[in-house]
Amino acid sequence: MAQLWGGRFTKETDQMVYDFNASISFDKRLFHQDVQGSMAHVTMLAKQGILTDAEKDAIISGLKGIMADVDDGKLVINHKYEDVHSFVEANLIDRIGDAGKKLHTGRSRNDQVALDMRLYVRQKVLDVDLLLNHLMEVILKTMEENLETYMPGFTHLQKAQPVTLAHHYGAYFEMFKRDRLRMKDIHERLNYCPLGAGALAGTTYPLDRAYVAELLGFIGPTLNSMDSVSDRDYLIEFLAALSTIMMHLSRFSEEIIIWNSNEYQFVELDDAYSTGSSIMPQKKNPDIAELVRGKTGRVYGALMSLLTTMKGIPLAYNKDMQEDKEMAFDAIDTVENCLVLFTGMISTMKFRKERMAASAMKGFTNATDLADYLVTKGVPFRDAHGIVGRIVLACIDKGISIEEMGLEELKEFCDKFDFDVYDAISLKTCVEKRMTTGAPGPEAMKEQIAAGKQFLSEN
Ligand code: ARG
Repeated sequence: MAQLWGGRFTKETDQMVYDFNASISFDKRLFHQDVQGSMAHVTMLAKQGILTDAEKDAIISGLKGIMADVDDGKLVINHKYEDVHSFVEANLIDRIGDAGKKLHTGRSRNDQVALDMRLYVRQKVLDVDLLLNHLMEVILKTMEENLETYMPGFTHLQKAQPVTLAHHYGAYFEMFKRDRLRMKDIHERLNYCPLGAGALAGTTYPLDRAYVAELLGFIGPTLNSMDSVSDRDYLIEFLAALSTIMMHLSRFSEEIIIWNSNEYQFVELDDAYSTGSSIMPQKKNPDIAELVRGKTGRVYGALMSLLTTMKGIPLAYNKDMQEDKEMAFDAIDTVENCLVLFTGMISTMKFRKERMAASAMKGFTNATDLADYLVTKGVPFRDAHGIVGRIVLACIDKGISIEEMGLEELKEFCDKFDFDVYDAISLKTCVEKRMTTGAPGPEAMKEQIAAGKQFLSEN
C-alpha cells in the first residue's frame, strides 16, 4: 500500500478497504495528462517564486524521466499505489529526493484529477471528431457516385416513395454533421482549466491560474473553485453526444442488416467484414453491424451511470466522483472502435443497384406521383387519392404494378388519363421531379453535396 496521507492515521488501512478505494487500475490511463499538468503547475510555481528555478528544473527533469520510462515499459504503473497521482509523486520523490516533495504545493488531488480528466476528454472530443470526419467522407463519396441509384424510401418499413441511395445516405451525413457540431460545442465549453481550485476553496499561495491555463492550452481558468472540483458536466455532455452517435450508427446498422438480408439483397458485405456460421454453411452474417447496434447499450449505460452518480452529490468533491472514469473510458473506446469498424464496413460494402431499382418499382412507390399526375389534369387531390387507391387495389388483385396497367383500363378509373401517364410515373421522373431543397432529385442533391463538401472543408 502506498498512500500520500498516512500522517493522521494510527492503523493500516484494511486491505479490502484499500482495494475498494484505489483507482490506479483504471486512472493509470490518465498518466500522461497527470504529468503534463504537473509540469505546468511547477512551471507556474517557479514563475511565482513559490519554488526556485532549480527545484522546478529538478522536478521537470524527474517527471520527464518517469514519462520516458513508463513509455518505454521500463517503469510499470503497478497497483502498489492508490492512484496515478500517488504513483507519479512517489516515483518523483524516489528519483529527485526532497524537491519532489514540493510538487504538490498549492494543489489537491481534487483539482488535479479534475484537470487530468478534462485534458483526457478534450483530446477524445477531437479524436472522435476526426473519426466522424472519415466516416462522413466515405458517406459523401457514396452520395456523389449514386445520384441516380434508385431505391425505395420507406415509412413504417413499408415502401413509400422512390428515393436514391445518395439521398438515403445524405440523411446520415446530416446526422453525423450534427454530431460533429456537438463535439465542437463541447470542446469550447470544457476548455477551461480547473487547476488552482485546490481541494475546494482555492489556496493561499499566490498562484497564477491564468498562466497555468495558458500553458495547458485552455481558454482561461474556471471561475469558481467549488464548481471546478465538482463539475463533471463536460463528461456528461460528451457521453450524451457519444450516445447520440451510437444511436445514429445503430440505426444505420439496422438498415444495413435489413439490406443485407436474403429478402432484400440490396447490399453485399465484404468478406472481411462478415462472419460465417459454425453449423449453417450458407451463412454470411452482418456481425459488425449487429455488434455496433448491440454496443449502443453500454454507451447509454455510461451516460445513465454518471448522471445517477452525480445527482445526489453535495458540493464539493466527494469520492463518488471517482466513478466517473471506468464506464466513461469504456464508452469512449467503444465509440472509437465502432466508428472505425463501421467506416471500414461501409467503404467496402457493394450495392446491388439493379435489385434496389427493381424493388423501388414494385410496391406502388409511384402511387403519389400518379395522384399528382391527375392533379395536373385538374382532378382535386383528395379525389385523385381515392382514384389511385382503387387502381392500386386492382393492381394488387392482378399481381401487376401500376405502369403495367394498360391505358384503357386506367381510363376506366378516370377519363383524365393519357399516354403521358407512363412517363409521369416512371422511376426516373418520380425522383427527378422532386427538386425542393433537401429532396432526392439530382439537382437538389447536387446542392446537398456541395453543402456537404463545404462543411467538410471548413470543419
Ligand atoms: N482517485 C480520485 C478520483 O478519481 C482522485 C481524487 C482523490 N481525492 C481525494 N480527496 N481522495 O476522483
